[in-house]
Amino acid sequence: KSCVLAYSGGLDTSVILGWLQDKGYEVHAVYVDLGQPCEDREATMKKARDCGAKSARIVDVREELCRDFAFPVLAWQAKYEQIYLLGTSIARPLISKVCLEVAREVGATAYAHGATGKGNDQCRFQLAAEALDPNVETIAPWRIEEFRNAFPGRTELIAYCAEKNIPVKASSSKPYSSDENVLHISYEAGQLEELNVNGVELVDFGMGVSPQEAPDKEESVTIGIESGVPVSLNGKQVSALEMVESLNTIAGRNGVGRIDMVENRFVGMKSRGVYESPGMTVLYDAVMNVEQLTMDRDLMHLRDRMAPEVAEMVYYGFWYAPKMDALMAFIREAQKPVTGEVTLKLYKGNIIVDSRTSPNSLYDAEIATMEGGGSYNQDDAEGFLRIQGLPGRVQASVRPRKY
Ligand code: ARG
Ligand code: SIN
Repeated sequence: KSCVLAYSGGLDTSVILGWLQDKGYEVHAVYVDLGQPCEDREATMKKARDCGAKSARIVDVREELCRDFAFPVLAWQAKYEQIYLLGTSIARPLISKVCLEVAREVGATAYAHGATGKGNDQCRFQLAAEALDPNVETIAPWRIEEFRNAFPGRTELIAYCAEKNIPVKASSSKPYSSDENVLHISYEAGQLEELNVNGVELVDFGMGVSPQEAPDKEESVTIGIESGVPVSLNGKQVSALEMVESLNTIAGRNGVGRIDMVENRFVGMKSRGVYESPGMTVLYDAVMNVEQLTMDRDLMHLRDRMAPEVAEMVYYGFWYAPKMDALMAFIREAQKPVTGEVTLKLYKGNIIVDSRTSPNSLYDAEIATMEGGGSYNQDDAEGFLRIQGLPGRVQASVRPRKY
């Protein structure tokens, strides 16, 4: 029997690679490159092969992650519980997709991952995998009692590696765990579980400086949007990945995009997380500014009511679902006119709009002006308000309100 493993080269998936073989599986290790830090990719692949992997490969999906996963979520302006930009959530279905592609190629019937049984990630990995191919069995060793009994703590994981000659490098002594990709870094667990610990002071952020450390001078960026998709940066056409990476650098050095929140996991408990997503934070603002010029009012309000639904589905792991397909068709249509350019000033963690233009702008100074004249006839407001106020006037005469 043969299994694909979403392999990071870290302690957990190294042990799982060995354990699956102990269980009689032939294991194909897949390192899905989402822009996570990796000292030496070739060494990681060699390590997988040395540990008995039948095959080991790196699949670089950084561009796809930005273009086909993060940007559609951005077009929705979807944020989980108001502020989380879903940087980990949206990467998980892509990991499953890549692993199932490999499973199809090598004829594997199982797919293993290293997520625990307590978190969101297991949901996203499994729900995506099952929606893509229900015939492939998902194996989550951390949900298997026998595995947990064998490895109650890090000591046993390290001992297993020593016994099997699996090289593990002295792991970082950070007092929390993190998940990084090109979109963001998340920080959770460890000392962050104590709510009286200041999260942004504790975390050693990897993508930028704090607002306090940022320069005392603002920095301008100009972002071009085409039908809701960011396409140019400071006048230059860039790919989705270049856009996100460049903005991570620019926004990172200006202290933009750090948050600390307590969120509701899909599996029920509340959990505390600290996130940094400098580039994506700027892009949410840029798209919003172009929408303000170009998107119809009622359409925007409808989108705004549905966006939390999209965020929830992404967070829970329902990426491959007919409801999501329909929502994506909706946002493509809604974003058609959202084309334009916006200049933002980044200053000590803030994003300040400087200017915005669009060939499709619905903004008409002639109509909006508070000055006299123009094409808006104030007489019309008379009848408009007579009718809008009708229910209120009837209520007031039947059941007068105390005031
Ligand atoms: N709480 C965030 C989420 O659910 C981040 C999860 C981070 N996962 C991890 N394995 N460190 O999307
Ligand atoms: C995990 O439990 O694997 C990480 C945290 C999460 O998925 O929410």
